[in-house]
Amino acid sequence: MDVRKSLCRVEEIPPSGAIAVHVDSSTGGFDLILVRVGEAVAAYHNECPHAGRRLDYAPGKFLIDAGQLICAAHGATFRIESGHCSGGPCRGAALRSVKVDVIDGQVCLP
Ligand code: FES
Repeated sequence: MDVRKSLCRVEEIPPSGAIAVHVDSSTGGFDLILVRVGEAVAAYHNECPHAGRRLDYAPGKFLIDAGQLICAAHGATFRIESGHCSGGPCRGAALRSVKVDVIDGQVCLP
């Protein structure tokens, strides 16, 4: 039996874009950012290393420019392929990444 948790289909994430998903758990769950990087998908906790705020400017809406995800709170920029902060108040830090797999077009937690 496959116990992987499906998060969404790859095509639900716009090319070079991002969506937010909530992962339920018995302890309340957590929120992820799913970012499309070419045919791959990267996942990060939706919590900025600067002040712990969500990165979306409206629920599930993210600012992405030139391969950089921009935190809506104070403008820190993160490389979409790695989550590393390349500018702003937490330069040198990184978003916490989460491993996801793409199986038959489904983005899944292992
Ligand atoms: S909380 Fe993201 S830049 Fe401040």
